[in-house]
Amino acid sequence: MQIIRNISALKKVIRRAKAKGETVGFVPTMGALHEGHLSLMRQSRKDNDLMVVSIFVNPMQFGPKEDYKKYPRTLAEDVRRMKTVGVDIVFVPDVGQIYPEGFQSCVNIGDLADTLCGRSRPGHFKGVLTVVNKLFNIVEPDVAYFGQKDYQQALIIGQMVHDLDMNLRIKVMPIVREKDGLAMSSRNAYLSPNERSRAAGLNRALNEAKRLIRGGETSAARITGAMKRIINWYGKSKIDYIAVVEPETLSDIKTIKTRQKVLVALAVFIGRTRLIDNILV
Ligand code: PAJ
Repeated sequence: MQIIRNISALKKVIRRAKAKGETVGFVPTMGALHEGHLSLMRQSRKDNDLMVVSIFVNPMQFGPKEDYKKYPRTLAEDVRRMKTVGVDIVFVPDVGQIYPEGFQSCVNIGDLADTLCGRSRPGHFKGVLTVVNKLFNIVEPDVAYFGQKDYQQALIIGQMVHDLDMNLRIKVMPIVREKDGLAMSSRNAYLSPNERSRAAGLNRALNEAKRLIRGGETSAARITGAMKRIINWYGKSKIDYIAVVEPETLSDIKTIKTRQKVLVALAVFIGRTRLIDNILV
């Protein structure tokens, strides 16, 4: 496994592989790797000749009051984990490589970024799209892997690839969870033991939504009401959003039609930690 910090060095290695006809799979991450990240890497390993991972905590996607500074950085442990899944190349640029002096171009997106996480994190998806676009241009992957955990992010990246005629495929992989159902996240490390047990309520609430919908409940308000009760039963928490939306457009659904596919998504503050999760029903 090769660790590369420099853009031109990385491009050279990838061009050489491509010249031999090798396919390139790519998993962009912010590090603090867990089984969710590793599941994307395993899929990429299966599908491609060369497997590239990036680790970059992207300042542009954090708001001024968010956790950029304290975001966990665990490179030594990440390297150990990546070796176990057969990563070929790890790209670990520093901020100056990605945003050199004078940097001023961004990728923006319309309506899809104005709802759910975009509403409470203005500028977040612009930061994500800009860095992902840059990483795609540097790595030139055939396939890039994203998790359903960040459903809106994966959808928006797919939209960018489509809108801007980018030459790659996006694969979205299922959410990997802890034993009690909590979606794995690098931010789970922030939780105190008490908050950690409260966080189990999020997945319980999503499962209740699924149970209600499968049982014929059509009112989004009744579903989100039941979810709030479950989350607060685990401990009073500040709910950023709980939404029942159309999976392709993320537009709000008030009444679910028979056999309609819906996305139930939430963002909840457990203490000061903002966690997200979702389920497709
Ligand atoms: P990060 O939060 O490190 O996540 C990297 C990838 O792992 C994302 O595609 C995310 O959806 C996926 N992932 C995280 N938790 C998961 C879980 N429990 N199960 C399955 N997949 C999971 O998302 C980002 O980084 C950044 O925004 C990035 C795309 C790298 C751009 O900076």
